[in-house]
Amino acid sequence: MRLLRALLRGATPGTASPGTIPQQVDFYSRFSPSPLSMKQFLDFGSENACEKTSFMFLRQELPVRLANIMKEISLLPDNLLRTPSVQLVQSWYVQSLQEILDFKDKSSEDSGAIHSFTDTVIKIRNRHNDVIPTMAQGVLEYKESFGIDAVTSQNVQYFLDRFYMSRISIRMLLNQHSLLFGGKSNPAHPKHIGSIDPNCNVVEVIRDGYESAKSLCDLYYMSSPELILEELNVKSPGQPMQVVYVPSHLYHMVFELFKNAMRATMEHNADRCIYPAIRVHVTLGNEDLTVKMSDRGGGVPMRKIDRLFNYMYSTAPRPRIETSRATPLLKQKTPIDAINGNKLFLLDQAGFGYGLPISRLYAQYFQGDLKLYSLEGYGTDAVIYIKALSTESIERLPVYNKAAWKHYKANHEADDWCVPSSEPKDMTTFRSM
Ligand SMILES: Nc1ncnc2c1ncn2[C@@H]1O[C@H](COP(=O)(O)OP(=O)(O)OP(=O)(O)O)[C@@H](O)[C@H]1O
Ligand SMILES: [Mg+2]
Repeated sequence: MRLLRALLRGATPGTASPGTIPQQVDFYSRFSPSPLSMKQFLDFGSENACEKTSFMFLRQELPVRLANIMKEISLLPDNLLRTPSVQLVQSWYVQSLQEILDFKDKSSEDSGAIHSFTDTVIKIRNRHNDVIPTMAQGVLEYKESFGIDAVTSQNVQYFLDRFYMSRISIRMLLNQHSLLFGGKSNPAHPKHIGSIDPNCNVVEVIRDGYESAKSLCDLYYMSSPELILEELNVKSPGQPMQVVYVPSHLYHMVFELFKNAMRATMEHNADRCIYPAIRVHVTLGNEDLTVKMSDRGGGVPMRKIDRLFNYMYSTAPRPRIETSRATPLLKQKTPIDAINGNKLFLLDQAGFGYGLPISRLYAQYFQGDLKLYSLEGYGTDAVIYIKALSTESIERLPVYNKAAWKHYKANHEADDWCVPSSEPKDMTTFRSM
């Protein structure tokens, strides 16, 4: 809608040339990001697509996505915005926006410029490797100095979900371009289109995730729960379970869930030294691919479930970056976003207690979801939903608009439901209406 209005006014991203970075941010944030479908990603990488098409799209779309989220960064509470870590993250965004805008006036026939754009894309991707832990560090610094109040926690939660989702999406664009045109083909997976596997074998990825978590678990607890996997292809009985998906995203989610399930299982059953297996059910229906992971690690009280997805209430101990002895399943500094085979190690949030919220964002990014159901005292079911049809896998992107702005500015009013009181009620006093 805003893009349409801007077009009617004669402005398109890339045509106007406002001067300073704040002006550029204002300008580009007036355009809505354009969500791509899985099919569009595939078309971009197919034989008839080329570096030039991708260059022309990215030099418009990246400034729009960057500027939209930069607007939201600037609306964070002052004390959070002023932490050195958030300042650093903000400076990366400014620099990357500037570097992309340097290509604004280059001719699309200039092959030298197109090549150097690809180098810039790779440089930007590397610059932003540490965004998650650095932002998380900023939140910790803020928490230590100013504590947590309900309003700030709500704002930070709203912001970080959108900020990290925006980062996933920007990284997806950067990765696709650099994998397709960066000169390094992927001999292990010639059929992949960048980071997308048109025939992603879901069960194989789940087993991979289990094996990686198992080696950490064995290292730390000297034992680990077994995996019992059941698969049911309702859509095409007897066929392997395949979807068009980014295997590294699925791997990330199941790996995080396995780590949690294993830790809970090992600790809850430590006295008996008998560790019940983790059961995984995978089903492929007409609309959904569903992965349910059930453990017998004692579960979590319902009261706490929402908190497990909350960035500010994360209970993980403060990670010590200099720690050399890893404590697997809890915190580890691992290769950040390093591409290894078909896996993209995205463990850069490990140690901040961000395993669940970031995994949920990966699921939601292509219109899926991740939910936790707990049976306190017994165990937990974690469920990942993924769209079975690639036509329905469309990027879910935050957009900076009045509704978002209001979210940061609105005074949060008192709850309109009674807060249960632990004090006995004095029945003789009545509230005046
Ligand atoms: N399957 C589970 N059973 C019991 N508790 C769980 C389970 N999954 C998560 N939790 C609880 O939720 C908390 C948050 O999990 P999350 O994965 O987000 O962070 P973390 O595991 O503490 O740290 P990180 O994943 O960043 O290394 C865990 O610390 C644990 O207390
Ligand atoms: Mg975890």
